[in-house]
Amino acid sequence: MNGDWPGYGLYHDKITTMSTTILTTGDDTVEKKTEVTIAPHYKIDKLDWGEIEGQRVFLFSLTNKSGHQVTVTNYGATITSWVTPDKLGGKSNIVLGFESIDGYLARPPYFGATIGRYSNRIAKGRFVIGNDTYSVATNNGENHLHGGNKGFDKVIWCAKPSDDGSASVTMNYLSKDGEEGYPGNLQVAVTFTLTDDNELLIGYYAETDKATVVNLTNHSYFNLTGDVASSILDHTLQIYADNYTPVENGIPNGELKNVAGGPFDFLQPHTIGERISRVDGGYDHNFVLTRKSNGLELIATLADSVSGRTLEVYTTEPGMQLYSGNFLDGSFKTSEGKSINKHAAICLETQHFPDSPNQPSFPATLLQPGEKYETATKYRLVINK
Ligand code: BGC
Repeated sequence: MNGDWPGYGLYHDKITTMSTTILTTGDDTVEKKTEVTIAPHYKIDKLDWGEIEGQRVFLFSLTNKSGHQVTVTNYGATITSWVTPDKLGGKSNIVLGFESIDGYLARPPYFGATIGRYSNRIAKGRFVIGNDTYSVATNNGENHLHGGNKGFDKVIWCAKPSDDGSASVTMNYLSKDGEEGYPGNLQVAVTFTLTDDNELLIGYYAETDKATVVNLTNHSYFNLTGDVASSILDHTLQIYADNYTPVENGIPNGELKNVAGGPFDFLQPHTIGERISRVDGGYDHNFVLTRKSNGLELIATLADSVSGRTLEVYTTEPGMQLYSGNFLDGSFKTSEGKSINKHAAICLETQHFPDSPNQPSFPATLLQPGEKYETATKYRLVINK
């Protein structure tokens, strides 16, 4: 396993303990000890999902008391499903994912994965730190995308389920100095927690031993109907962002452009499909969140009236990439064999702005030795009857 995680392997599927019974007959007291096996008190199941490059891959199921279940694998620290009730008493999965590791090995476009070391694009795969220029893979035309050829989405993380009674699992990965061209040994931890309030909390942590750039996100694709055959164009979206970053070939030009009145204006709720034809290629843009604090703040709401599901997005990040599944083209199918077509799902990727290492006016993504990278995002599911 990658990384030095002392707790790894301590997970128990069941706990064996001794039960003591005191039997009293007349004046005699007999103490009887029996070995019993009890289920652990936390709501985590662990399934062996196979082996990749000689390392074990697992699927962890986090379940809460209202019947939500989130599954996460240590391959790419990836969310593979989120099964939730709907307003009619049904249950379905609201994120794109597969039921076995083979689906992921076929390289889907980052379904549910943790993205790093740098989410989204770095222009021409080049950036400068101090006197040093670094080159990272140009795997998206002439630009770098989502950490390169083998980003954090394609590596095996070390997983440690919580032992404090919460439905939570932490994934840990050591990205070595020079991996994919990035400087510094970067120790990363991502914790997924499902609460009884139907919140999926994702906490990110990183430390480096040499100045580097870091921008981590999760690439879940949501379809709140639970059916990929039904596009997300009818979902209603609200984003608390007064500005967005206009792009050319996916690279911001440095401007923060006011959304007022145009197709990027989601200050009031609009369906995604309402104005998408006015956006060349569909939505694939970073929104500059209008924040009131540095803490976890509600920044977007996605709703589907048919299922009654509303997804609230909270983050500590300054930006969110709205990607309306424009490049999905039916070449991937769900585990039930349904084609995943254009606009079958939508990503709400909380992060720093694209190409920040080359854009001095954007919030910085530089991490120095001794500093802590700490961000959090929370997706909360509300079911409106
Ligand atoms: C990017 C898109 C890209 C998609 C899948 C998104 O985060 O902004 O341009 O196609 O990820 O790779």
